[in-house]
Amino acid sequence: MPTSSGNAGPAAQGLEVADVVAGYGGAPVLKGLSLTVSPGQVVAVVGPNGAGKSTLMRAITGTVRISSGIVTIGGVDITKWSSERRSRHGLGYVPQSRDVFDSLTVQENLSMGGYMLPKREVDDRITNVFSLFPSLLPLRTRVASKLSGGERKLLGIGRALVATPTVLLLDEPTASLSPELSKVILTEHVRRLADTGVAVLLVEQKALQALEVSDWAHVLVGGETRISGPSGEVLARRDIREVFLGAAALAIEASTAEDGKRS
Ligand SMILES: Nc1ncnc2c1ncn2[C@@H]1O[C@H](COP(=O)(O)OP(=O)(O)O)[C@@H](O)[C@H]1O
Ligand SMILES: [Mg+2]
Repeated sequence: MPTSSGNAGPAAQGLEVADVVAGYGGAPVLKGLSLTVSPGQVVAVVGPNGAGKSTLMRAITGTVRISSGIVTIGGVDITKWSSERRSRHGLGYVPQSRDVFDSLTVQENLSMGGYMLPKREVDDRITNVFSLFPSLLPLRTRVASKLSGGERKLLGIGRALVATPTVLLLDEPTASLSPELSKVILTEHVRRLADTGVAVLLVEQKALQALEVSDWAHVLVGGETRISGPSGEVLARRDIREVFLGAAALAIEASTAEDGKRS
């Protein structure tokens, strides 16, 4: 259920993105994007391949230049901060791929997530990750390259959680997973994580599944928000399929089919 409005002015807590224009030096990819994510909320950004979803993640983490607009976390303007400073301020990020170290064990990957913290504290936080994702516990000595796709994604999320972020960005966490596993990751793990008070921004091509798990949704097309609202309302809109015509319609269909190829 929606817990608050997604676009209702400055968020004292959580994440706010306001009128952000960003890109790679040529024409802007994001053309004035706004959203907020409050603690405990899952906000979904869905849209077709090339819509600018990953660019949005990179603009928030600080690896893509923002030419206008602001990003705040906990009411603090972080727009001009380095990525490292953003992460120390509570911003966690799980990229679509390369989110774990293949040659390290589960335990070692989790430890890397807290490399900047005292060991004692890291151990406590790893214990918390195992209580949130108990299926990782028996795998602690397994090398990441030997994990299944779902286990690997949980490890990627767990690794980000060791830094105890207040805001967590997930870029297509279900990209290489079966529909069944995608559902488990989104409706169980991502939801449970938000219920601990983390503000979760979830980017997905699997639009239907993302709308089902989220409180608020933005449909991104061509770097602009086409529709936004409580996810239940967005799901129920009669024009959603029209908005998703073309490549995006395929993304909706793909959310119910076996995985497609993704960029
Ligand atoms: N590193 C890059 N350099 C230049 N253009 C890029 C780069 N990455 C993505 N783009 C362009 O930005 C647009 C949005 O891409 P992206 O944010 O990856 O979309 P999505 O994640 O929604 O699939 C696309 O037109 C893509 O070609
Ligand atoms: Mg992407």
